Amino acid sequence: MLVRLVYASRASRELSPQDLQDILRRSRDHNPAEGITGLLWYNDGVFIQVLEGGRDPVNARYKRIVMDNRHDAPILLTYQEISERRYAGWSMGQVNLHRLNPGLLLKYGETQKLDPYRMSGAMLTALFDELVSSGAIECA
Ligand SMILES: Cc1cc2nc3c(=O)[nH]c(=O)nc-3n(C[C@H](O)[C@H](O)[C@H](O)COP(=O)(O)O)c2cc1C
Repeated sequence: MLVRLVYASRASRELSPQDLQDILRRSRDHNPAEGITGLLWYNDGVFIQVLEGGRDPVNARYKRIVMDNRHDAPILLTYQEISERRYAGWSMGQVNLHRLNPGLLLKYGETQKLDPYRMSGAMLTALFDELVSSGAIECA
């Protein structure tokens, strides 16, 4: 059975591009063997991550991720059973903020600064779908 989990969190310290690359490298090493796919957003000290895959591997990986001391204040935004994956092409795709149309953030948020703590999981999923269709995801 497949599930999709979306959460947001705050970086516990200022992360360098190298820190972010380390997280992505670790994700891309682990996730394929566990059948996990998804996307990671990081900007202004805030993470948003979508994890898709089998219920047991997604639950187990999420438990490990939330214990990671590089971030805190995790908020679970969506947890649902799904009939198909949306992000099957990415072991962990990274949202490329340079390719982001700023108007897209206003479409879903109160301001141009994305605040997942004030958004529903459904809105974030819709935003992520638009990011995919506008080519704003870096492959891996
Ligand atoms: C925001 C964030 C997202 C992460 N995403 C993943 C992920 O998708 N897959 C993964 O294996 N580790 C991810 N990690 C790293 C995990 O927290 C943790 O280091 C890793 O799962 C350790 O796995 P292990 O104990 O099985 O070696 C992420 C860490 C952070 C801070």
